[in-house]
Amino acid sequence: MIERGRALRSRLDAERSAGTTVGFVPTMGAFHEGHLGLLKRAVAERDLVVVSIFVNPLQFGPGEDFEAYPRQRERDLALAEEAGAALAYVPDLVDVYPSWPLEVSVDPGPLGERLEGAARPGHFRGVATVVAKLFNRVGPSTAYFGEKDAQQLALIRRMVQELDFPVEIVGCPIVREPDGLAMSSRNAYLGPEDRAAATCLHRALAAARRLAAGGERDAAALRRVMARVVAAEARAELDYATVVDEATFEEVPETLEGPSRAVIAARVGPARLIDNERLRT
Ligand code: PAJ
Repeated sequence: MIERGRALRSRLDAERSAGTTVGFVPTMGAFHEGHLGLLKRAVAERDLVVVSIFVNPLQFGPGEDFEAYPRQRERDLALAEEAGAALAYVPDLVDVYPSWPLEVSVDPGPLGERLEGAARPGHFRGVATVVAKLFNRVGPSTAYFGEKDAQQLALIRRMVQELDFPVEIVGCPIVREPDGLAMSSRNAYLGPEDRAAATCLHRALAAARRLAAGGERDAAALRRVMARVVAAEARAELDYATVVDEATFEEVPETLEGPSRAVIAARVGPARLIDNERLRT
């Protein structure tokens, strides 16, 4: 069930040539229902599902939580098996990056510099590079990503399209706690008071969604309502709350027209949290 090195590709080549379809779910582990939702969808749609668990140092900036990031290997492997994954790819650092630092990486372009990219310089280069490497190692026909990380999903779609990866990308809906907080491995950083405060991201998005559903098309009005909800929460510090074009993640300057998404990032106690919601137009 567990694979570490480069043997994975040849093992899967044998399956592929026998006509097996391979689904792939890349993760950094510390599984919650969000990850398991992707896995279950993959298992329902593909013959053989590979999940990778790798906390990728290339996508963490200096001073970010690479060391603190939760690691729960045994529990994750049991959950992956239960969800029906056939293979868990759990490489270590040297397996993934035999030469370090890398000289060649994937340039995520302007999409990689907006919003999350601006807040976390180098983050999307790290994501695009590791996902490209993992795609080459696994060779999936379909890969599953969560809308929780909507900018990441948009970037991967773009990368696959522009660099001709023969992989179909499937986006899956955000899985939430009963009170609306989007599930995230980083929620484990929240103490009880911060955990309660963290719902302000979802409350802000819900306020924007209601306004938009009621006919509001002015992006500035939607930004204002989200900022107001977060400002009312003393434990939260807003990073950004805005409305973007769903595909390019360019901020909508004035009036909502095409498919758009409200996106938000805030620090709550020790955690930096992100969330988003599609706005009906
Ligand atoms: P990670 O944060 O572990 O997330 C793995 C996948 O689970 C991503 O596609 C993410 O969008 C999805 N996911 C996380 N929380 C979710 C939720 N509440 N609902 C639905 N999907 C959710 O994203 C990464 O890892 C890394 O950047 C990776 C792509 C593995 C590259 O290192």
